[in-house]
Amino acid sequence: MQRTSDWWREAIVYQVYPRSFADSDGDGIGDIPGIRTRIPYLKDLGIDAIWLSPHYPSPMLDAGYDVSDYRNVWPTFGNLSDIEGLINDVHDAGMRMFIDIVPNHTSWDHPWFKEALAYPLDNDATIPAKARCAEGPWARYHLLRGQDGGTREPNNWSSVFGGPTWHQVNDAHGNPSGWWYLHIFDKSQPDLDWDNHEVRAEFRGHLRFWFDRGIDGFRIDVAHGLAKAEGYPDCPEIVDGDATAKNPYWDQDGLHDVWREWRAVADEYEPARVFVAEAWVHPAQRNARYLRPDELHTGFNFPYLRAPWNATKMRDIIDFTLASNKIENAPTTWVLENHDVWRAATRYAPIIGHSEKNAGVAGQLDLGGETDWKAERDLETGAARARANFLSMLALPGTAYIYQGQELGLNEVFDIPAQLRQDPAFITTQGARVGRDGCRVPLPWNNDTESLGFNTTGASWLPAPNSWKKLTVAAQDQDSTSMLTLARTALHLRRDLLALGGISDDVAPLVWDNDVPEYILSFVRPARLGGTAIRCALNLGNHAVVLPFDGQPVLMSDPHAYTDGMLNPNSCVWLTA
Ligand code: NOJ
Repeated sequence: MQRTSDWWREAIVYQVYPRSFADSDGDGIGDIPGIRTRIPYLKDLGIDAIWLSPHYPSPMLDAGYDVSDYRNVWPTFGNLSDIEGLINDVHDAGMRMFIDIVPNHTSWDHPWFKEALAYPLDNDATIPAKARCAEGPWARYHLLRGQDGGTREPNNWSSVFGGPTWHQVNDAHGNPSGWWYLHIFDKSQPDLDWDNHEVRAEFRGHLRFWFDRGIDGFRIDVAHGLAKAEGYPDCPEIVDGDATAKNPYWDQDGLHDVWREWRAVADEYEPARVFVAEAWVHPAQRNARYLRPDELHTGFNFPYLRAPWNATKMRDIIDFTLASNKIENAPTTWVLENHDVWRAATRYAPIIGHSEKNAGVAGQLDLGGETDWKAERDLETGAARARANFLSMLALPGTAYIYQGQELGLNEVFDIPAQLRQDPAFITTQGARVGRDGCRVPLPWNNDTESLGFNTTGASWLPAPNSWKKLTVAAQDQDSTSMLTLARTALHLRRDLLALGGISDDVAPLVWDNDVPEYILSFVRPARLGGTAIRCALNLGNHAVVLPFDGQPVLMSDPHAYTDGMLNPNSCVWLTA
């Protein structure tokens, strides 16, 4: 059965990070009215849907991934009628809209957690370590007795942002109570207990609240984190900050029940609503378990995002993703950037003087990518590679995600004063980890103001670097060689000409070319739906190479990428096949 009516199987989704997209009122922070003014820009770009990162009321200790009210809007971003207006604008422009939902934890400002903190706790030194307090409001969270009479954390779990996952609660007199609550992320983000039926019912209500307002789907934050291993066993080893490690709080079988319940809610609607999972699991093949027919529709492909600049490794990841998703008849997704990782142009930039130029991705790619951030990099090569891989990603079958500013070729910003940095990964580790602020710097729209057009008054919560003056939307708009022009052209071609999207049952999703050097990633997308067959070739090596194909170039990653059959290093070309 061909399922082309399922738009989410082959869409281009653009991530809007509201704090940094466009600021309409000049307070230095982006807002929903600002996003609404830029709908024509998004439409023109050629995307199918937007995903809006959290817009909820929040103390903003983790940029809104610490929600204090799931049914409202952070006043700095606007109000409910602003977001309703945005949903309408997006739909009127023929696009769809995902919003974020954060079920793993609330903010410590959420009324449930405040109620829990006000609850009188029994501090009796004879209570055994790891005893659970599920009384009253604490039944919604994980509160455990500490070890050594309550003085030490209940177990050895490490938080993603650094330090232990446990924070001790004070008793009514302001003294340590011996009871500790769980926070896999920041201490301001207490984890919810998803075995609790009230928690489950409340969240089904949140889903309906937003579905009833017309949103088309949710991006689910930390979809691999909701269930914790019974008895809260110690981690086999402490892997601080590694969200993919196989720890007893990641990827537990029990959480799939929740996704089956959520799918039933989405299926109540006409048309059915859609989910995309943020799940960092290990081994990555386990991703497909989230995509079973009665669970979530799609999930981010993080192995692809983390792939080094190496053709063999990229090809292996593409192959295993296609194969494992096929088992569940689930579409693939491709993603190279988001608000949690270094910009591709920086990630792919070789460190100058580094002997293995072709290794490309220096630095660890977990939340923050903190390794080697002070090293001097060849940013020109990084930018070329980001353009080339963007084109290659768009040739792959399935859904692709673009993070705001990726279409401008923005690089990671490291030159941010410590006092302006807001990422809890930076704050908790007192700067030992650089954190994620560098990929969250407000978008440069034009050269009219100090904030590069982010607003009209000049201020912005993080300053844009001077080097971005040549990367603004206005500077790139009419330049036929710019990344923005390339992105627009590629997105429109993908949709209108090439029918490059989803997988149909009677046409192979892609066919690899094996008669090319091992540093060339080359494949054919067979024609389907009346589209044209296309070959995509990406050169991840150090040498130009003559390709053994005679197709005509349709699009290339820069004007000199491909001439007389020769593909330059760090370049990509689409050819007729
Ligand atoms: C994943 C989000 O993408 C990230 O930004 C956030 O810090 C954590 N989840 C915690 O919610």
